[in-house]
Amino acid sequence: MDNQTITLLNSRRSLRSFSDREIEEHVKQAIKATTLRAPTAGNMILYSVVEVTSQSIKDELAVLCDNQPMIAKAPMVWVFLADMTKWINYYHESNSVKTGRSEGLQWRQIGMGDFLLSMSDAIIAAQTAVIAAEAYGLGSCYIGDVYENYEKTSTLLDLPPHTAIATMVIFGYPKDGFGSKSAQSLRPPTDYVFMENRYLEPHLPQLLQAYSRQEEQMRNQKRLPFNNTGTISDYYYFRKHQSPFMEEMNRSAKVMVDRWLHPDVPTDV
Ligand SMILES: Cc1cc2nc3c(=O)[nH]c(=O)nc-3n(C[C@H](O)[C@H](O)[C@H](O)COP(=O)(O)O)c2cc1C
Repeated sequence: MDNQTITLLNSRRSLRSFSDREIEEHVKQAIKATTLRAPTAGNMILYSVVEVTSQSIKDELAVLCDNQPMIAKAPMVWVFLADMTKWINYYHESNSVKTGRSEGLQWRQIGMGDFLLSMSDAIIAAQTAVIAAEAYGLGSCYIGDVYENYEKTSTLLDLPPHTAIATMVIFGYPKDGFGSKSAQSLRPPTDYVFMENRYLEPHLPQLLQAYSRQEEQMRNQKRLPFNNTGTISDYYYFRKHQSPFMEEMNRSAKVMVDRWLHPDVPTDV
């Protein structure tokens, strides 16, 4: 199908090295406006975005996010937050809570449902921003390592307990046009991901088949350093699953979720 949107979606790939070109204010504003058109639960926009413009904060984030210097060099750094704080404040400060109390309604604690809806909103907004940016000729890269070092990052960005970190995306123009971007990474076939009616648990024969093209590509690129099974399983098991950064991410994410569920400052005052 010859369609510009489909072509854009099919040609997107992560960009990790940016030109020094500043992102024009009108382009930034246009990306923001399109981001706000993303679907959001009940139209409540349960997210906020902190744009990091301070070089010193970018530098600190680069270290806190598993030492990725590209973060410090990125022209635009957006941290997407799952945000219930604004609604908690609105409920209280507009006297909705007080009125509810006079009608016998007790304050409901903010829970995991609120967390998941806010996270969904923030991540859908992030991907909308990624695609909008791509349409303006920018490249981008998600930074999952922003889930590490929660205590330091939340202090750095002044985050209250009900503004959890959903994701971070770095943006910028490619150095020499999009031709300089790395080759598109391969994906498994669609029927490995899309199932009918029920979950179909994949085991070794299906997994080998699903990842055979990627394994071949990585073998050719000499990116499969382990000879145990010679599969992509080794790559992800040793490089990601068993890595210190995943250990830290799981620790840090638990602190973030615990703080959301049990904030140090009560929300029912
Ligand atoms: C949730 C998430 C977290 C990611 N975290 C990082 C990261 O910390 N550093 C990085 O270089 N790339 C990161 N990426 C980019 C992925 O590595 C990339 O999307 C993947 O390899 C597929 O490549 P493509 O985006 O070019 O198709 C992340 C992507 C997602 C969706």
